[in-house]
Amino acid sequence: MASFKLLLVSVFTLFLLPNSVLSVCKNPPVIFNFGDSNSDTGGLVAGLGYTVNLPNGRTFFGRSTGRLSDGRLIIDFLCQNVNTSFLSPYLESMGSTFSNGANFAIVGSSTLPRYVPFALNVQIMQFLRFKSRSLELVTAGSQRMIGDEDFRRALYMIDIGQNDLAHGFKNNLSYAEVVKTIPSVLKEIEIAMKTLYDQGGRNFWVHNTGPLGCLPQKLSMVEKTSRDLDQHGCISRYNDAANLFNEGLHQLCQGFRSEMKGATVVYVDIYAIKYDLIANSSKYGFSNPLMACCGFGGPPYNYNIQITCGQPGAQVCNEGSKLVSWDGIHYTEAANNIVASKIQTNVFSTPHIAFDFFCH
Ligand SMILES: *[C@@H]1O[C@H](CO)[C@@H](O)[C@H](O)[C@H]1NC(C)=O
Ligand SMILES: *[C@@H]1O[C@H](CO)[C@@H](O)[C@H](O)[C@H]1NC(C)=O
Ligand SMILES: *[C@@H]1O[C@H](CO)[C@@H](O)[C@H](O)[C@H]1NC(C)=O
Repeated sequence: MASFKLLLVSVFTLFLLPNSVLSVCKNPPVIFNFGDSNSDTGGLVAGLGYTVNLPNGRTFFGRSTGRLSDGRLIIDFLCQNVNTSFLSPYLESMGSTFSNGANFAIVGSSTLPRYVPFALNVQIMQFLRFKSRSLELVTAGSQRMIGDEDFRRALYMIDIGQNDLAHGFKNNLSYAEVVKTIPSVLKEIEIAMKTLYDQGGRNFWVHNTGPLGCLPQKLSMVEKTSRDLDQHGCISRYNDAANLFNEGLHQLCQGFRSEMKGATVVYVDIYAIKYDLIANSSKYGFSNPLMACCGFGGPPYNYNIQITCGQPGAQVCNEGSKLVSWDGIHYTEAANNIVASKIQTNVFSTPHIAFDFFCH
């Protein structure tokens, strides 16, 4: 028993260490991020005035920041890893600093339809405005905004697609119909990347999508029999769709790399990292990987769409660090920390480039 505990402790130290010891990054890259709630650091709350209540934020910030988690998101850990501040949401007009980049990601975003706030295309249009305004301000003498050279050397991060797949299933499309939408979703991502490239962007960091069928929200709401579930209790067709999307995204990144001169495109297999976390949850110190910490209804999933985390009546577990899922859709800070640590090993990146490669 004692040696088992020791083993657990050493496994933990192994994974937690990279975040507590900052890598030496004297000149962190400017970062621009595009995506959905997986990387929204407060954009929805700033943009639409929605409230995200405690216990969101309880573990790290001690207050709600608009992040859907009890603490930091993957992108926050990545920023810490290269010694740069957390990214301010583009839409946050108060207390924001944009000298290290901006975050355009918004909760609920998908790629299609493309002219609806805050579709990927809208986020890109916001970026174009941000860029032209920033260059104007620099020309006028501002030291606090981003100049042309930094836009070129910046790291452009994209993490989107989960909601496109989720919306398809939610609208009662069959598996085959959902799969048919994937090429147009990928096309949107490609258009976004080409636009950034045409603007001079050369460094791209692309996250694939996680195992949609393992989210407690999906598991609690979708009618299913045991035949619909895989060996870890996740909805097979949801995960199959995510895998097909990821194959297409992988190819897109490969094609982009060879066609776009001078582009560095890193494709990161978030799916593999998250699925391992769920399949081997006890190895990482987690119990019950398919149950939300914050929600309503108790086991097996603790999710109720009428009483979600932060709403009156929702209940929250004592130790978020023991669960993978925070609110049924988003991961706990503890899980995000492990995912970010794994990203930093570069084992899950194609090509095998580490995040701090972009320090200069
Ligand atoms: C982190 O950044 C600060 C200033 O932004 C700098 O003083 C410090 O040396 C950096 N640390 C490392 C380990 O690169
Ligand atoms: C999908 O099907 C369910 C069950 O048949 C129905 O309750 C729901 O309204 C449908 N949703 C849409 C968007 O058509
Ligand atoms: C679970 O861990 C084992 C042992 O490390 C590994 O072989 C397996 O691939 C993991 N499962 C998943 C789904 O990643």
